[in-house]
Amino acid sequence: MPSATPAPKTIQQCVAARKGGPFQMTTTQYPVPGPDEICIRNRAVALNPLDWKNLHQGMMVESWPCIFGIDTAGVVEVTGKNVTGIKAGDAVMSLAGHGGRAGAFQDVTTVPANYACRKPAAWTFEQAATVPLCYLTAVSAIIKGLGVPLPHLREAPKNNEPNLDDLTSPITTTKQPELPKQPVELTSVLILGGSSGVGASAVQLLRHALPELVIITTNSPEHNDRVTQLGATACVDRTLGGAQLVKAIKQASPNAKGVDAIIDAVAGALDGNGAVFDSFRDDGPKLYSHVMTGAKVNVPNGVKGATVYGRMAFQVEGGEAAMARLFDLVDAGKFKLPLEVEVVGKGLDVIGSGLDKLKAGVSGKKLVVSL
Ligand SMILES: NC(=O)c1ccc[n+]([C@@H]2O[C@H](COP(=O)([O-])OP(=O)(O)OC[C@H]3O[C@@H](n4cnc5c(N)ncnc54)[C@H](OP(=O)(O)O)[C@@H]3O)[C@@H](O)[C@H]2O)c1
Repeated sequence: MPSATPAPKTIQQCVAARKGGPFQMTTTQYPVPGPDEICIRNRAVALNPLDWKNLHQGMMVESWPCIFGIDTAGVVEVTGKNVTGIKAGDAVMSLAGHGGRAGAFQDVTTVPANYACRKPAAWTFEQAATVPLCYLTAVSAIIKGLGVPLPHLREAPKNNEPNLDDLTSPITTTKQPELPKQPVELTSVLILGGSSGVGASAVQLLRHALPELVIITTNSPEHNDRVTQLGATACVDRTLGGAQLVKAIKQASPNAKGVDAIIDAVAGALDGNGAVFDSFRDDGPKLYSHVMTGAKVNVPNGVKGATVYGRMAFQVEGGEAAMARLFDLVDAGKFKLPLEVEVVGKGLDVIGSGLDKLKAGVSGKKLVVSL
C-alpha cells in the first residue's frame, strides 16, 4: 500500500564533487519514489572497497559529482504505488547504487523495492548494512561463475517479502525458476579471500547448496575459526604464496589432487603471478569465478573464467527475489553475519575518513557508519 507518511522536504547528501574528493555536504529535495521503488531513511551505511575505488579511481563513475554508497540499512519512509510487500515503517537492509538518489551516502536512499528485504531482528542496523552487496556478489559468483544452482532461490515465497507479482519492473517474473538440467557437479571449491565479505558469504551459500562439498579458503590464520564455523572445510594461510600455497591447497583437496573450481573474491590469483591456477585438479572442470575488483587477472588456457559482480544476482533465475530469500535464509539460521562489524563513527561527515581507513586495509571485518 502506498505510504501516506509525511516526509521532510529536504535531505542531506554526502557528495564527491570530483575524483579524489573531498566530500561535500549538500541539501536537496526529498525524493519521489517511482512506482516500484521505496525511500529508505538510512540508519547505517557500510563502507565497501568499491566506494574508495570509485572515489580515487573513478572505477564505475559516469559523471561527477557523484553520490557513493552501495549498502544500507534503515527504515522505509515512502513506497511507490505498486509496492505491496514492504511498507512505511519497516526496518530493511538494502543494496544501494551510486550516482544520485540510489546512493547510500545520504539521509534517504531510493531503490527498487526488491533491492531490499526486512532486517533480521537479531541484527543491528550496522550489522545488516554490511550484508547485501557481499551476499549478492557471492550469489553471482556461485551461479554465474560456477554454474551451481542455489536452492534457497527456488524455495516458496514466505509472507515477509515484496509481492513480486505486483511489481511492474522489467526484471520481475512470476515463474518459479528451473534448475539447470545438468548442474555442474563439483566436489571441491577454493575460495580466495575466505575472510572477505564476499568470500565469507560464498562459503555459507555453498555449504547450504552442497553439504558434501569440500570448501577450501585462503585467509590469514586468525580468521580460520570464523571461516570454518561458517562452513569451510579447511583454511590455508594466504601468506604462504606461490608453490607453498598451491601445495597446501592440494593437500586439503579430495585425494590431494586439486580443486574443481575457484571463486576469487579478492583478485588473489594475482599473488605469485597466477600460481594458484596450478591448484586445479588436472582432469577437473577448472572453473574460475572472478569477482570484478578492478584488477586484471590473466586466465590461463584451459581454465573457464567468468567475471561476476553483485547486481548480476538479480539476473539469474529466481534472482529477482534474492534479497527476500536472504531474509528467509537468515531466519532459518542458514546464513550468519559474514564478518565482524566496526562502527567508524556517526554521521555523513565521517564517511571520508572511514573510506581512508578502509583503503589502508582491513582484515576480517566490515566498516560501517551509523547515521
Ligand atoms: N563488482 C562488484 O559488484 C563487487 C561487489 C563486492 C565486492 N567487490 C570487490 O571484491 C573484493 C572483495 O570485497 P569485500 O567487500 O568482500 O572485501 P573485504 O571484506 O574488505 O576484504 C578484506 C579481506 O580480503 C582478504 N584478502 C585480501 N587480499 C587477499 C588475498 N590476496 N588472498 C586472500 N585474502 C585476501 C583479507 O584477508 P585476511 O585479513 O584474512 O588476510 C581481508 O580480510 C574487493 O576488491 C571489492 O571491490 C566487487
